Amino acid sequence: MRLPQAGTIEVVPSILSADFANLADEIAQVESAGVKVVHLDVMDGHFVPNITIGPPVVEKLRKYSRLVFDCHLMISEPALYAERFIESGANHLTFHIEAEKNFGKLIDKIHSLGATAGVCLNPDTPAESVKDAGPLCDMVLVMTVHPGFGAQKFMTEAAKKVIKVREIIGPSVRVEVDGGINVQTAPVVVSYGADTLVAGNAIFSKPDRIKAIEAIRTACR
Ligand code: DX5
Ligand code: ZN
Repeated sequence: MRLPQAGTIEVVPSILSADFANLADEIAQVESAGVKVVHLDVMDGHFVPNITIGPPVVEKLRKYSRLVFDCHLMISEPALYAERFIESGANHLTFHIEAEKNFGKLIDKIHSLGATAGVCLNPDTPAESVKDAGPLCDMVLVMTVHPGFGAQKFMTEAAKKVIKVREIIGPSVRVEVDGGINVQTAPVVVSYGADTLVAGNAIFSKPDRIKAIEAIRTACR
């Protein structure tokens, strides 16, 4: 289970808006829509004002899915937890550039543990802040809402940073966007250079998740 190579558009469901009492079923549903990656939002109640899942949940879900687990660490001390998430079954770890000064060391550690690595920028963090870290990564995540909650409004100005991030990292590193992605906003971020589209509410608020995923794909064609 490996993050697909750059060059394809991937819709990546975020389970934050799924039914947490039925996560295995929810993931199986989006898997049947042919997605390759699922996005797991990890929040610590410190870096962001919300608390979600930790390594034990990742470990349990691992038994039910062959999708790439893209773990978005919205936590204050990502270096302390990277190993536990990878041991639990995370295939890709994204940490926030705002939370880790020693990013080179953490990216190396993630790679040496067999996972792919990403850095994430909050809406107020300039694109240039990934100048050194971005090229070392497999994916750069540009937040298009303030992290912490699903179903927020897409921030156009934050999304425009994708253009600059793409310029900095070139074509071989994925650019992921997260927050307010739906049939209207997905084609906009793709036109800016994003290729990895996280969507929570736009998929899990719909009774037919497969149709919702297909609608985002179609909107981007
Ligand atoms: C927000 C999370 C997102 C969230 C996106 O802090 O990082 O992954 O699930 O949700 P939507 O797509 O509903 O904006
Ligand atoms: Zn996320």
